[in-house]
Amino acid sequence: MKIITLVDNICGSASPPTRLVKMLNRPDRQFMAEQGLSIIIEMENGQRVLFDTGSSEQVFLHNLHLLGLEPKDFNAVVVSHGHYDHVGGLVPMIEAGIPIFAHPKTFVGKRYSTAGETKTDISPPQRVIDALAKAKLNLSTQSVEVIPGVKTSGEISHTNDFEQTLNFIRDDEGSMLEDTIHDEQAVYISTKRGLAIISGCSHAGIVNIVTQAKKQTPGARIQMVMGGLHMMGASQDRIRKTMEMLKNLNVDRIAPLHCSGFEAMKMISDRFVGFELMPAGSEIELP
Ligand SMILES: [Fe+2]
Ligand SMILES: [Fe+2]
Repeated sequence: MKIITLVDNICGSASPPTRLVKMLNRPDRQFMAEQGLSIIIEMENGQRVLFDTGSSEQVFLHNLHLLGLEPKDFNAVVVSHGHYDHVGGLVPMIEAGIPIFAHPKTFVGKRYSTAGETKTDISPPQRVIDALAKAKLNLSTQSVEVIPGVKTSGEISHTNDFEQTLNFIRDDEGSMLEDTIHDEQAVYISTKRGLAIISGCSHAGIVNIVTQAKKQTPGARIQMVMGGLHMMGASQDRIRKTMEMLKNLNVDRIAPLHCSGFEAMKMISDRFVGFELMPAGSEIELP
């Protein structure tokens, strides 16, 4: 089974940083980076699931074409949550008739970040909302099987008190409410050596996500955790505690991407033996 980072905030170099990760960048095949995330899951039988679609169709399709792939080459798309940097390339997937798995609230209402000096609109683009009328949507709050070996987490329970979802609001039928991003979902991939968990932004907290995966898959070892860990600006204490808890949850490898934050990426690469660097245009093969 292979996982490819298609779109990320950084793009790869032409040399492999580890034994397991292969860089797909070449002088004549340059992957593009943007604020966003998109990941390809490729099973041994050739079935493919796309997890998120980056911020823009341009980058999404550019990188997809470098791999010789088209939207029609996928069996399903899973959307992690309704922020612009995860749904920007959805329209070509909708036009290709690919089933889309999301939470019922993913595309509902305007979403804002209040982390900066002014509130920032981070909603899905209107052209994506308009295209949904033609989409094959599978909306659920529960864990569902996407293809054999790949399932969604369903809604994530917030079970600890150190991972809080702060600085987001949403327009819910005219009233501005705090947004705890309950539409967020991860995916679990079954491998011979346990689960690989892919998360979009981990607004619910990566420890909450892995804890839930272990509850839903009792006894599973976690071969890999990959995705945005949303720890930009997090204290060193919080990053340290996150790493310790992930070790205690038997996580073997971590590939922090997208919104993980430089400090968290650095601390994980310095102190977590199973760190993997997986920018856009990189691939890992998991047994
Ligand atoms: Fe997000
Ligand atoms: Fe994001």
